[in-house]
Amino acid sequence: MKRQDVKGQVAIVTGASSGVGWQSAVRLAEAGVRLCVTARTAQALERLRDEVLQRGGECLVVPGDVTVQEDVERVVRECLAHYGRVDVLVNNAGVQSYGLFDALPWEHITRVLDVNCLGFMRFARGVLPHFRRQGRGHVLNVQSMLSRGGAPLLSAYTASKHATLGWAKALRLELEGTGIEVSNILVPSVDTNMFAHAPTLLSRAPAPVPPTYDVDVVARSVVAAVRRPGRTRVPVFLQGRLILALDAVAPWVGQFLLGHFGARMQQRDEPVERREGNLFQPMTRSYGPHGPVPPTPRWKRYSATAGLAALAGGVVLGVAGLARAAR
Ligand SMILES: NC(=O)c1ccc[n+]([C@@H]2O[C@H](COP(=O)([O-])OP(=O)(O)OC[C@H]3O[C@@H](n4cnc5c(N)ncnc54)[C@H](OP(=O)(O)O)[C@@H]3O)[C@@H](O)[C@H]2O)c1
Repeated sequence: MKRQDVKGQVAIVTGASSGVGWQSAVRLAEAGVRLCVTARTAQALERLRDEVLQRGGECLVVPGDVTVQEDVERVVRECLAHYGRVDVLVNNAGVQSYGLFDALPWEHITRVLDVNCLGFMRFARGVLPHFRRQGRGHVLNVQSMLSRGGAPLLSAYTASKHATLGWAKALRLELEGTGIEVSNILVPSVDTNMFAHAPTLLSRAPAPVPPTYDVDVVARSVVAAVRRPGRTRVPVFLQGRLILALDAVAPWVGQFLLGHFGARMQQRDEPVERREGNLFQPMTRSYGPHGPVPPTPRWKRYSATAGLAALAGGVVLGVAGLARAAR
């Protein structure tokens, strides 16, 4: 698809009070996109609006909960009343809950699916009638590497992200030829407050599966997707294209590493801040783009990349060798 001029376009960004949503809103505003930002925490959204205005952008704040149909309709309505249009929906609001599947409270499982999966669908249904009338529009979904793979302790989250990617694929097919685009971003671990926000059944605080990247890599990918819609983007190499390639040729590598070390990798030596997390009530203290776990230093990422690339190369050569021997 041809690169689009995004200046003056109007985007609704959900989950904008923190992390990926916050940073994407800032980067979109810098690119000239006019914003309607939403999440439950009005105070954080107002701080975001101040930052956007300082950078010369436009920002309408409409607080709301993605699990509440009336809130979703109100956000879309107020955006249309204010700007007269909406061009892009950045579906981003997300939650997770840490614990073994059979120990997770049932209401955590249903809530994670409600926010991450039905929340995306509610907002898409909110904007699609307007997109159809305009003959153009863009549903941009902030997905996860766990839309493809899996991680222990995150079964409900993984299920929600697989479901949302499947939904997005079907939606893209239905919208073929309408001028309405669907994009996805497969987000790696990034340094947001998600790991301070998530409820956990474990005694230690949650941590992202390493390596962890600066959230700005995702925000820049969001802007790139608004410029060139319609693709599924993988913004990084190591916890992105390389892992996906390795998973295609030797899925047992990821199975072994995450099966044996995944649970330990996803905990840090810090006490749990608020055990019930942000599932049902927002955590008002932690907003802004960055969270408690800093990005992995570059040298560590490069060493891991070299190691995994060598392993992937070895697997490919081994398989090729076996195939030759069998002929
Ligand atoms: N961080 C990572 O490593 C990572 C990796 C892969 C994918 N992702 C994806 O990136 C997206 C954003 O996550 P993040 O890392 O930025 O997490 P975050 O810092 O915890 O932000 C989550 C956002 O979702 C909002 N939210 C939560 N429940 C909501 C509800 N019921 N209604 C409306 N808004 C709600 C929160 O705002 P309020 O609490 O104010 O409502 C907040 O703005 C998610 O879709 C996540 O799956 C993140």
